[in-house]
Amino acid sequence: MLQTIFAGTGYYVPDRVVTNQELTTFMDTSDEWIVKRTGIRERRWVDEGMSGAEMARRASEMALAESGIEAGDIDAIVLGTLTPDVFFPGTGVFLQRELGLEGIPALDLRAQCSGFLYGLSVADAWIRSGQYDTILLVGVEIHSTGMDMTTRGRDLTVLFGDGAGAVVLTSSAEDGRGVLSTHIHADGRFAEMLWMESAASRNHPRISVRDIEEGKHYPLMQGKEVFKHAVARMPEVVMEALSANGLTTDDIDLLIPHQANLRISQMVQRRLGLPDDKVVNNIDRYGNTTAATIPIALAEAVRDDRLAPGDLLCLVAFGSGFTWGSALIRW
Ligand code: ACO
Repeated sequence: MLQTIFAGTGYYVPDRVVTNQELTTFMDTSDEWIVKRTGIRERRWVDEGMSGAEMARRASEMALAESGIEAGDIDAIVLGTLTPDVFFPGTGVFLQRELGLEGIPALDLRAQCSGFLYGLSVADAWIRSGQYDTILLVGVEIHSTGMDMTTRGRDLTVLFGDGAGAVVLTSSAEDGRGVLSTHIHADGRFAEMLWMESAASRNHPRISVRDIEEGKHYPLMQGKEVFKHAVARMPEVVMEALSANGLTTDDIDLLIPHQANLRISQMVQRRLGLPDDKVVNNIDRYGNTTAATIPIALAEAVRDDRLAPGDLLCLVAFGSGFTWGSALIRW
């Protein structure tokens, strides 16, 4: 039976470091508030000229180099983003063009913070079914060009950063290795809890001066509600994955939670009873890079030697939609 294995990981973050202190120069906030409520100390923002596709290409090249697989051997691209380079077509086709892979399918997935896990679920099914053998799975976001840089937007602007993460997935016949299972969910009743209302095709016109004056072209979040749901759904979906495989929290060697807020990750860690050395946190340096957070954290964990062959890796995410999910991987 075919199993999906991670052949390579990679990431790219822009050079420009934006500290909490820098944010205080254009909005009413403080380093103390941001660190205490979120754990974020700095994030990366792109300079003009850098696109999501370009960041995705750089992350992908790192993942390909680690895997030893040639770009030409990729059979399909799956890319998660909520900040596509343009309204359409998806960023996946621009990445495909950047990599010179004309002809292979390029699928954009819109599952926000769960984008990487939704993508993993699709890619895993394709690989296990034998439809495609080698898949490039990418998460990429540019938030900085779409945030409200005034005090009105401070609750969200301080949270988000730009970046890309990528993995090369391929098949293995080695039993018990690779992706054990993925578990994805959504609850559209909460769609407006974290969303961006404009520009939108259902609006006539798609964007108006009034929308802009009212800030509807910026993301809007009911932070406390999102927080409450995140700390309930994330442990729940980890337990769902463990029980589907007859495993327990004691079996987890490394947990990579979506990086939305350090307090959320710490509460998830506590509910699962995991020690600090089994949980990856890098939100202090990058903020929330949405679909990119898990593959960036994974690529860093690999480079920090935090995963050994045979380890049980657990990935978990929650975000806008609401969408959430988990995956268990025998490394
Ligand atoms: N600096 C200073 N003060 C601020 C800031 C800021 N950046 N932002 C908000 N405040 C103020 C508020 O105005 C409020 O002031 P008031 O009491 O005078 O009204 C006070 O701080 C408390 O605000 P809350 O929103 O109640 O703060 P909270 O403790 O809930 O923290 C936060 C806010 C960090 C956003 C938190 O709610 C959170 O992390 N929520 C979940 C985020 C998340 O998981 N998102 C999902 C993933 S993202 C995705 O899917 C795209």
